[in-house]
Amino acid sequence: MRTETPVAVKLAEYKPYPFSIDEVRLEFRLVPASTQVRATLKVTPAGNGPMRLDGESLQLKSIRLAPEGSPLADIGSDAFTADEHGLTLHTPPAGPFLLETVVEISPETNSALSGLYMSGGRFCTQCEAVGFRRITFYPDRPDVMSSFKVRIEAEKAAYPYLLSNGTPGEAGDMDGGWHFAEWDDPHKKPGYLFALCAGDYDVLRDSFTTASGAHVDLGIYVDKGEAPRAAWAMDSLKRSMRWDEETYGREYDLGVFNIVAVRDFNFGAMENKGLNIFNSAYVLADESTATDADFEAIESIVAHEYFHNWTGNRITCRDWFQLCLKEGLTVFRDQNFSADMRSRPVQRIKDVIKLRARQFAEDAGPLAHSVRPDTYASIDNLYTSTVYEKGSELIGMLRRQIGPESFRKGMDIYFERHDGQAVTIEDYYACFEAATGKDFSQFRRWYVQAGTPEITVEENWDAASATLTVKLAQSTRPTNGQPVKKPVPVPLLSALLDGKGGHAAAEGQAAEPFLYVLDRESAELVFKLPAGAPRPLLSLNRDFSAPVRLKRMLSRDDRLALVRAETDPFNTWDGLQALIKEEILTLADGSQTVPDTALVAAIGEAVRGALQDPAFAALLTRLPDVGELFLEREPADAVALAAARRKLQASIAVELAAEIADTLAQASPAPYNPGAEQASVRALRSAFIMLLGGRGDAADMLAELYRNAPNMTEQLSALRALTVSAGPGREEALADFEAQWKSNALVMDKWFSVQAGLGSAEDVRRLVTHPDFDLRNPNRVRSVIAAFAMQNLAAFHAPDGSGYRAVEETILAADKANPALGARLLTAFEQWRLLEPKARAEAEACLRRLVAAGLSPNAMDIAHRALDGDTKG
Ligand code: TRP
Ligand code: ZN
Repeated sequence: MRTETPVAVKLAEYKPYPFSIDEVRLEFRLVPASTQVRATLKVTPAGNGPMRLDGESLQLKSIRLAPEGSPLADIGSDAFTADEHGLTLHTPPAGPFLLETVVEISPETNSALSGLYMSGGRFCTQCEAVGFRRITFYPDRPDVMSSFKVRIEAEKAAYPYLLSNGTPGEAGDMDGGWHFAEWDDPHKKPGYLFALCAGDYDVLRDSFTTASGAHVDLGIYVDKGEAPRAAWAMDSLKRSMRWDEETYGREYDLGVFNIVAVRDFNFGAMENKGLNIFNSAYVLADESTATDADFEAIESIVAHEYFHNWTGNRITCRDWFQLCLKEGLTVFRDQNFSADMRSRPVQRIKDVIKLRARQFAEDAGPLAHSVRPDTYASIDNLYTSTVYEKGSELIGMLRRQIGPESFRKGMDIYFERHDGQAVTIEDYYACFEAATGKDFSQFRRWYVQAGTPEITVEENWDAASATLTVKLAQSTRPTNGQPVKKPVPVPLLSALLDGKGGHAAAEGQAAEPFLYVLDRESAELVFKLPAGAPRPLLSLNRDFSAPVRLKRMLSRDDRLALVRAETDPFNTWDGLQALIKEEILTLADGSQTVPDTALVAAIGEAVRGALQDPAFAALLTRLPDVGELFLEREPADAVALAAARRKLQASIAVELAAEIADTLAQASPAPYNPGAEQASVRALRSAFIMLLGGRGDAADMLAELYRNAPNMTEQLSALRALTVSAGPGREEALADFEAQWKSNALVMDKWFSVQAGLGSAEDVRRLVTHPDFDLRNPNRVRSVIAAFAMQNLAAFHAPDGSGYRAVEETILAADKANPALGARLLTAFEQWRLLEPKARAEAEACLRRLVAAGLSPNAMDIAHRALDGDTKG
């Protein structure tokens, strides 16, 4: 196999940069095919030795240098060496100096969407993690922080708005129809937070007054004609700003905060100082084009990027190994914001669904890595669910163990102590040690060890002595490169349930939930109850207090009793999920042919009992995704699992027929409001519409629901249900939807993704040749390839390999243009080793064909790890 993966970077090899960059001045002359960038760095050496600057795909035009007090002068070509990855000044001055470089770059041909590129005829940038080096020669690492002054020049008619970080300075007209604008960002920042946008936009403007009375101008820059669709993003922004003041005492620190929406973007959004850049999918929404899920995602991503202003920008990472320092913490903050805006238990359930679907799968496969890894080959591939979502869980466990007051105290110390610095996870935990006097060295194992801990629970009730004995044991399976795991502290929020809706008290304990921390391999808990007391039921890992997999040896009847006795909404939901998982597995392996009537009745009972909290009721109707079930039984047969899942879904639809009919006979709430209350009502309506899709005899009703849908949430639910049901109304609805929305790219992404996510490999082959399929637009590529390969597992992992072949060429082509995108798509193969033999062989063959065909270094890193990864350690 040809190896093109770059050599691994190692945490242990960290060395501070031997120069400080005291100030940066950047001057841009923007032309799509050849933009000129002049960078002037004010440098102070910390020692003596060569100066290394990163630079990629830059055409060097000139390089000049000036020791302090002297004028800039060309340096000889023997004074520096340039290579593919940068430039080395052999003997820079020993004292402070100015360094000026002029380079030319080509935004027009930049299809990687990293650095300066064009999207929809406008200029924009993406510099995290290592895109700044594609703009100018610079020490492109997060621990080199500097203040930036920027001057942008461009043709005025084509690019009327010229934006960068900080606050605007001088602006004016130039000769030849050009104009310029200057921006000044006084806050020291690393290059990865630099941003520039230029073009014509519509602008939604608003303002915010901070708690201490400072005025902030807010602007959201969008496609012409779209400004009204940015209203929800603006509203979310103002609520985020207030929330960070109220929850963490953090105010915004500049007079301007801008958001720019771009169509072509590799991720959700980017937290550039004072100039966030967003994937337009997470800015634009109204009731007719966006679903409640879209509104919810916008709210949380706007908050996430805004919260980075403190956790990420003012305090940043020393190196990219510390990525979770900003991402895990910021996800934790945005999840809590969403919980405060909506329902906390519903938010928790949704966060856990996402964690289990993505992070547990990652942790169980060859791409498993720790939250703070100590080596990586490609930094772009470290933006993972483990770093983000598990990183957030670790902060949640910290907070739960020390309590909200100590947590806030530690955060205050962190903001106070490290403002303006680039720091490490150790620095972060030192703040909590200062706040509590506790030692977190064992807790920090969570950052070092990959894999999801499994907790086995054995319960024994002795009626004679009224004693419940609980044996707990933890273990973590070996992961790539980590054969031996040590115990981690597992905070288990627990309670004894009395079976009557309340809690039981053991001797010496109150009748209320308690936190038990399992900090060793195994432990035994003994609960002595008053003589003659009935057996209490044990509620464990309430609110999903630890990101672990619980293995409980309980019968179906015990589990049902536990669900009925639960007092924790998360566990009520999760108890049912566990039962449903078991049921699907049993149906899939053929040991049972029809769904258990008692279980179906219990689901019906739970849903009926929750109708006054419709969002929660909707979650109770949810069936685990096929991918989640992969982790439960090996080898995994995606086709059998999907069929079993459909069977159970159909039974639930029959069980709830009356409620479904009742609910859908009512009108959808009007006038439309995207807030939590109405969204909750629509969540249940949508869940019921999806259940109808599983019945196979509801085509007429679905067609009518589709035709009369008053908003996109219900229109899309009906379209999905019709697509699943594969009945006569399917083609008609899909054609109607396309005709209605063909000029709205974001809505058309949904049209593509419904078919790829619920259709066949044939559908995918057809979709990638559709005239609106665009290899250069990541949203569109993901709407087909990721929807198919990550959500439609029965079709993707078809035993004849047809699913793999349907996406192979598109992945190769996408990767050629955009390595970050190619690598991301390839992660769909991470579970191949878990599959039944036929699909497994086809998946491996496909991976090997991709490698042989030639992948980008980013994609090669994923492919190699997926193929060579020996999960047995
Ligand atoms: N820091 C961004 C975020 O959390 C993530 C991001 C946006 C990103 N664009 C990127 C990461 C490009 C790597 C490459 O919210
Ligand atoms: Zn982030």
